[in-house]
Amino acid sequence: MRSLPLALLLLLMSASCASTSAPVSQKGLKDVLADDFLVGCAVNSSMIDGRRPKADSITRRHFNSIVAENCMKSAEINPAPGVYNWAPADSFVAYGNRHGMAVIGHTLIWHSQLAPWFAVDAEGHDVSPDTLRARMKAHITAMLTRYKGKVKGWDVVNEPILDDGTYRDSPFYRILGEEFIPLAFSYAHEADPDAELYINDYSMTKPAKRDAYVRLVKAMKARGLRIDGIGMQAHISMEEPTLAEFEQAIDSFASTGANVMITEWDMSALPVPTMSANIADSVAPAPDLNPYTEGLPDSVAMAWNRRMADFMDLFRRHSDQITRVTVWGTDDSMSWRNFFPVRGRTDYPLLFDRDFNAKPFVDSLISTNF
Ligand code: XIL
Repeated sequence: MRSLPLALLLLLMSASCASTSAPVSQKGLKDVLADDFLVGCAVNSSMIDGRRPKADSITRRHFNSIVAENCMKSAEINPAPGVYNWAPADSFVAYGNRHGMAVIGHTLIWHSQLAPWFAVDAEGHDVSPDTLRARMKAHITAMLTRYKGKVKGWDVVNEPILDDGTYRDSPFYRILGEEFIPLAFSYAHEADPDAELYINDYSMTKPAKRDAYVRLVKAMKARGLRIDGIGMQAHISMEEPTLAEFEQAIDSFASTGANVMITEWDMSALPVPTMSANIADSVAPAPDLNPYTEGLPDSVAMAWNRRMADFMDLFRRHSDQITRVTVWGTDDSMSWRNFFPVRGRTDYPLLFDRDFNAKPFVDSLISTNF
């Protein structure tokens, strides 16, 4: 692992900001980071369908893992009881398999983008614990059976714990209590004993939340349940969290014996009015929340690149604990951060810009390693 001298990094960044197209090696991030961890990105169906060829070539050149941005969420794939919309997920999995990528399934049990029928009866009331258990088992079994041997690992449960360390009042928790998590993991393990199983959440550096996950994962392991990884989404801002907070969380999660994964990395370059990544927590649009519609000022771009490079250095220093770093999308134009937490903004959170050029810190990483 080599870290870049600051002077050289700044030189490369200013060259790139002035858009003098420096020659870039044909090697990709996955080559640079081959000894560290898998490097992945979230992809959506428009790319898989061939409607975004430049995103497709970025993905094949730079990433050796992909995760489904939306097509495997229950509302998309299981819109009615027993009805499965397999086609988009089949294409996503086939794309990853065809290109030798580690394919990650996202996500089985989540309160957001939850199929509307999943936890309610015909009158719209919560179903009984028995019914919910049966539905969870049927859904998880259908998903893991179909993609057995084709999907490396699954985000089994997403975002079950709040920042204060208490359980989220989701239908799953309301109806089944804490046990819904161990149940989901055991259904998944039963359906595909070879699949890796992960738990995933945002704001994982918040101490109460972090410690709650450490307790939960240790307790699950003590019961003999399979849990391979703790996913830190890492939807970060220019200010939060600090590198020290992030590092402490990596060490805490690794102390459980599970692998640590950075699962949805992106960094907004805009003012971030809430660090929540819960998709219901949106904020009203306002002009001062969307300051860079005409492009990112150089000073902000430099600060963004510097901080992203620092995070990448941190991840590489912890490559014995981190097994995958996945970014939440290919290029800025398709990032969910253009509409979350504030709708209709122009954000710059990903590794490739709207013209599909690598951001300076990515270029630097590649050109200084080859
Ligand atoms: C986001 C997708 O990127 C959007 O396209 C969708 O409209 C909402 O969900 N945490 C997660 C992801 O685990 O599934 C979310 O993805 C972002 C927050």
